[in-house]
Amino acid sequence: MKVTLGLLSILAYIGHTSAAPDPGLAAWHLDNLYPLATERLDPVVNPNGVASHLHRIVGGSAFGANYNYDEYNGASCSTAAVQADKSNYWMPQLFWRENSTYVPLKAGTRFYYFLHRNKPDEPVRAFPPGLRMLTGNLNAKSYAETGLPTGAINFICLKNHFSTPNGDTGGPDFNFDIDCPQGLVTTVRFPTCWDGVNLYKADGSHMKYTDNLQFGVCPVSHPVRIPGIMLEYTWQTYAYRPGVPLRNKLIWANGDTTGFGLHADFVNGWDTDVLEKALNDPDCLSGDMTMTACPTLAMYMNLGTAQSCQPSRGVLESYEDFKPIGALPGCNLPWSSGSKPACNPSVPNPSIPNSLKGTDGSLTYSGPSYLTNTSSPPNTWTRQGCIGGSTSLVNSFQYSDAAMTQAKCQSTCAEWGSQYAGLLSGQYCVCGTDLDPAAYHYADSNCNSPCGGDSTKTCGGNGKLELFRNPSATTVNHPGVSDPQYIGCRREGGTGHALTAAYINYDSMTVEWCKNYCTAQKQTLAAIEFGRTCMCGSSWQNGGGIPYPQNQCNTPCKGNTQQFCGGPQITISTFNLTLPGGSSPPVSSSASASSASAKVTSSSASSGPSGAVTVTKTVTVTGTCSAPAGRRRNHRDMRIFGDA
Ligand SMILES: *[C@@H]1O[C@H](CO)[C@@H](O)[C@H](O)[C@H]1NC(C)=O
Ligand SMILES: *[C@@H]1O[C@H](CO)[C@@H](O)[C@H](O)[C@H]1NC(C)=O
Ligand SMILES: *[C@@H]1O[C@H](CO)[C@@H](O)[C@H](O)[C@H]1NC(C)=O
Repeated sequence: MKVTLGLLSILAYIGHTSAAPDPGLAAWHLDNLYPLATERLDPVVNPNGVASHLHRIVGGSAFGANYNYDEYNGASCSTAAVQADKSNYWMPQLFWRENSTYVPLKAGTRFYYFLHRNKPDEPVRAFPPGLRMLTGNLNAKSYAETGLPTGAINFICLKNHFSTPNGDTGGPDFNFDIDCPQGLVTTVRFPTCWDGVNLYKADGSHMKYTDNLQFGVCPVSHPVRIPGIMLEYTWQTYAYRPGVPLRNKLIWANGDTTGFGLHADFVNGWDTDVLEKALNDPDCLSGDMTMTACPTLAMYMNLGTAQSCQPSRGVLESYEDFKPIGALPGCNLPWSSGSKPACNPSVPNPSIPNSLKGTDGSLTYSGPSYLTNTSSPPNTWTRQGCIGGSTSLVNSFQYSDAAMTQAKCQSTCAEWGSQYAGLLSGQYCVCGTDLDPAAYHYADSNCNSPCGGDSTKTCGGNGKLELFRNPSATTVNHPGVSDPQYIGCRREGGTGHALTAAYINYDSMTVEWCKNYCTAQKQTLAAIEFGRTCMCGSSWQNGGGIPYPQNQCNTPCKGNTQQFCGGPQITISTFNLTLPGGSSPPVSSSASASSASAKVTSSSASSGPSGAVTVTKTVTVTGTCSAPAGRRRNHRDMRIFGDA
């Protein structure tokens, strides 16, 4: 983490952690947040244009049809009590629809910032200057269509809210069959994980939720954790039509009558130094508190300024609460299903005064990096963190070794051209060519399994990978074997052989002999184990063929001790006969295993045990796999096991 803001307070915070309460539970809320404007502006979606529907906006006075951080941060006031926050927040305006009139409802507004951390020293960073976010889907007609995790939008009808237990009713939409004597709460929770690069992307991909809405861990693609905003509007349905059940009476400004079209926006106008300082002030992290109970933020509290703050650049239009209008502004006919109804004739847009127009800020961040540099110098394995599960690696394979070490796993992954090496549960090694960007990045405390072969180091955790990367390790390399058809030391099948088309034991086994045998059997893959057992096939069977460390194929061939012929137990030396470079001559018909002179005996397939790798001896021969061509073969020593 490159600390650029509030460095002293971060250091003070780290020094304070032993005494600090669990920062994972911290949350701020701000209840003093007043209306700023209700107008068809949306600087995020429609820069310098008219938005398709009406928004109810709170926050900084510099709000306009464009957005750039400097202008917004420089606003003279904010309707948020903490004047260091010149951000703007908005939702669509909610209307009461009855007798063909539409009544804009009044709303009280507040927000929460959830400051969940997975461990005390995991930073929650200030929103980067220039960040814009939109969450929710204005076209959704069901929760599934919102594309949001459960709980990201929520509706609560407040009934006897202040008694215990309260009589509140929650629901996935606003069509409650009751009235809400204390208001209808609509909440939107924003994602909390930022990609560290993009300040806005129209598809929202610069932001992600954690694996548990706002309370879990961020994916590796979005490593920068920011406060989890929950924007909450409490609509005063009760003040307009007391006692009337809500069903079929409410409509969002875009015409949506289901409620699922709820969405919300945030544009950052914070003084980021102040926010960063507060996010690292231990006195601001003691559980759920009002923002103004945080001493760092209390310095900027000014209720009077918040209440009197007006849009400094003027407004596009103005709608008074509870004053009925004949149609929703823009082209927004009531819309409950199917495609959005068109307007005929079309509705003209108001023109935007120049005072509301301006330049947009950059869509990419260019300040001091928020990202940790996890790239490695060449040929070095650099720890990437504690990452979720073996499926996090792409093009992966795994094997186990009761005496696993970080170095063993790294060297195996390097042999197989995998730039990622992940250790799991103390004894598994997972190699992969790429990291799934959606994989979650957990706190290091989740990678707490000692390595089976070196208890001084950790080898991942339960379902968590201790992940290393070496960007140079992208070339497959099987040490000590130069045969161009060799495709590595692999695992024998678990419930039968890894190759099942033909199988033979031969006490003068060489690599060439096995390759010739499998060619004669019209197969494309050959494998050898126990120094003398050759098997053939054209695809891996019985779970076999999974890569293994080269040093597990250390058994010399019976017929040529300069060559490796698999391992003593569960590993096979494997060859792809369709690759160029086979040094063997064509096989004569007399060498065919189906030769009448071959002695056929019963099958004795050796299934590999599924347990840990046991290295019973270390062979350091480094022979080539090419023997003199045309070598004579002794067919009388040959025994065929008839599983072909
Ligand atoms: C709508 O019309 C009905 C029937 O005339 C009436 O009872 C109701 O009060 C009207 N609603 C409003 C908001 O005026
Ligand atoms: C990240 O680290 C690598 C290797 O140490 C270095 O070569 C590279 O310049 C660094 N990148 C940044 C952006 O600091
Ligand atoms: C064998 O090599 C061919 C290329 O000649 C390749 O298409 C095939 O996937 C390889 N088979 C295996 C099992 O590696």
